Amino acid sequence: MRSSTSMFSFLLISMILLAITSMVLHSTCMAHPPPLRKGFYSASCPDLERIVLRVMRDAVVRNPRNAAYILRLFFHDCFVQGCDGSVLLDDVLGLPGEKGAFPNKNFAEAFLLVDAIKREVEHVCPAAVSCADILALASRDAVVLTGGPHWEVALGRRDAVVASLKLANIDIPTASYNLSTLISIFRSKGLSVEDMVALSGAHTIGFARCFNYKERLYNQSGTLKPDPNLNVFVLRERMMVCPPIGGDGRTYPLDRTPFVFDTSYYKDLIRRSAVLYSDQVLESVALGPGMPLVNWFAGDARLFFERFSEAMTKMGSINPLTGFEGEIRRNCRLRN
Ligand code: HEM
Repeated sequence: MRSSTSMFSFLLISMILLAITSMVLHSTCMAHPPPLRKGFYSASCPDLERIVLRVMRDAVVRNPRNAAYILRLFFHDCFVQGCDGSVLLDDVLGLPGEKGAFPNKNFAEAFLLVDAIKREVEHVCPAAVSCADILALASRDAVVLTGGPHWEVALGRRDAVVASLKLANIDIPTASYNLSTLISIFRSKGLSVEDMVALSGAHTIGFARCFNYKERLYNQSGTLKPDPNLNVFVLRERMMVCPPIGGDGRTYPLDRTPFVFDTSYYKDLIRRSAVLYSDQVLESVALGPGMPLVNWFAGDARLFFERFSEAMTKMGSINPLTGFEGEIRRNCRLRN
């Protein structure tokens, strides 16, 4: 009888201690969420990176534009609430997602591609890998598959349970922004001017639709004239593709080699041939007297690749959810 009472007290005390330890651990993690780290899934999903790369490779072979869609989608995820996969959530009754935001209207293919990667990952590692991390890895692979640099992606992001249509319409920069507005948006996300110029090098792949550069061709800043900072030879060519009225969906490559991750984007800025106004304004950025960033990147692919990788790591670390925050969504479009 005595021994069963002491056994019972021992069990009770152990359970109380366990509960206290887990509460302390939980509150410590809530107060100090763990940082992202490389190799986060090396035990829970060792094949993760191979799976993501395989699906991305097939997708880019099928349609080379897929690399650009995914890279841009990651940027739009990170700038709104942080890199938490919120951009992937579908609208639910009474809770509009970010997909309806003006800058996010062209991502149907990218959402399908994230679904395809997630399906493959869930098959091998169920309920282990967040959609936010899948997007971070797929973006790195988009860069590698088009000829750009490789970097180790710090992982451990968890997925948001809410999205913000309002923030998506405010926090994502548009092509008509001037330099000081761009700098202040990037600064508000913890990114420097150098990060911004390096990250904009993502426009070395992909295309823009006419309505995003029309103002530059016909009515820059309400002057009823083209942007004086636009090379007259390319002006004519672009006017043929993008008429003053209509043709809004017609696309134009963001640089001379829209499927290759190289320095042509910066070379085009120097020739005053950028497609977007927000790109051309970067040409004047200097880190100090005689330190023109765009010229440096245009002339030194190694330097550009190094700074781009570093800036992507910084952008990928904007307000992630980690530890006990958020969740691991089973379907990237819906919260669990
Ligand atoms: C500096 C601020 C930025 C502005 C104002 C901006 C704006 C734009 C605009 C207006 C387009 C054309 C979209 C269309 O017409 O469909 C575009 C395309 C693109 N952006 Fe940016 N962007 C910026 C920075 C970035 C960053 C940081 C990244 C990624 C790291 C990025 C990746 C891309 C890519 C890859 C495309 C091509 C997408 C495609 O082919 O559909 N952008 N951007």
